[in-house]
Amino acid sequence: MQYRRCGKSGIKLPAVSLGLWHNFGGVDVAENYRSILHTAFDSGITHFDLANNYGPPPGSAEENFGRIVERDFTGYRDEMIISTKAGYTMWDGPYGDWGSKKYLVSSLDQSLKRMKLDYVDIFYHHRPDPDTPLEETMNALDLIVRQGKALYAGISNYPAEKASEAITILKSLGTPCLIHQPKYSMFERWVEGGLLDVLEKDGVGCIPFSPLAQGLLTNKYLHGIPEDSRAAKATGFLKKSHVTDERVAQINKLNDIAIKRGQTLAQMALAWLLKDQRITSVLIGASRPEQLIDSLKCLDNIGFSKEELAQIEEIL
Ligand SMILES: NC(=O)c1ccc[n+]([C@@H]2O[C@H](COP(=O)([O-])OP(=O)(O)OC[C@H]3O[C@@H](n4cnc5c(N)ncnc54)[C@H](OP(=O)(O)O)[C@@H]3O)[C@@H](O)[C@H]2O)c1
Repeated sequence: MQYRRCGKSGIKLPAVSLGLWHNFGGVDVAENYRSILHTAFDSGITHFDLANNYGPPPGSAEENFGRIVERDFTGYRDEMIISTKAGYTMWDGPYGDWGSKKYLVSSLDQSLKRMKLDYVDIFYHHRPDPDTPLEETMNALDLIVRQGKALYAGISNYPAEKASEAITILKSLGTPCLIHQPKYSMFERWVEGGLLDVLEKDGVGCIPFSPLAQGLLTNKYLHGIPEDSRAAKATGFLKKSHVTDERVAQINKLNDIAIKRGQTLAQMALAWLLKDQRITSVLIGASRPEQLIDSLKCLDNIGFSKEELAQIEEIL
């Protein structure tokens, strides 16, 4: 594993981190996700990313993770960076969603109970809230860090301008923003329009989520939609309708370049993000340990020739 400094902080993150959005919920097979966690940690993945609502059902990924940490990883807590978030709908009524101090503080308390942890390493506000004053949300992050319930604060899905404001407020409170978690992959490039510059200028790390576009940027969909894929499942956000003929043609062309580089498409898609030193870590998912092992080999070659980059650009 390679470790990269997270912005201008004291923390280093593994170049590849593991997210528990899918495959770790109440509907999933315990021995499989336990094995994914072991494969990850044994490969030097020290960072595990959760959120209050991961499952399904919501909360079950934190419960399952907590059970395995207690059983298998207790002696290793100080070698792990565990994150969770609040910001999307979690419980009924006006206090279980968005960005109030009430929601963030009580949600983290619930998350800590589910995971049976005293603290998380990073606590994120999961998405910007158009109605709550940004000062209130950032004050809540500052409070949580001062209470020792999280060591660092982060933001996710914030567009460039709002991220810049949040970073400034957090700095003034004395709790610098450690990291931003945006969606970023070859197929989703909004961060290139200003956010990455803001993060670099302010010394904040960047951990792209869904770097494989939920599996589209792998060899999974080269010939349509396999039965055991995320797109074929009833739960989740990748729909069959996302796997268009145009996408499949694009994926096949990208795969040809990956083969020439001696990589799988997943490895090339991750390397393509990691070529930019502003990217602290890529936050991948996996439905089985073998996928993780495949994806991790991206680190063997993160360099691209000008010709390769131009060819990729043309396909995208
Ligand atoms: N902050 C936010 O709003 C937000 C939103 C979404 C996600 N996230 C975070 O980002 C993490 C990763 O998201 P993601 O799961 O969408 O990431 P992803 O890495 O883009 O997609 C992971 C999926 O791709 C397939 N896959 C992975 N490696 C493969 C390989 N080597 N070969 C073939 N297929 C492979 C698997 O799907 P199959 O099931 O088809 O096998 C796997 O579950 C989440 O767990 C979460 O922590 C954050």
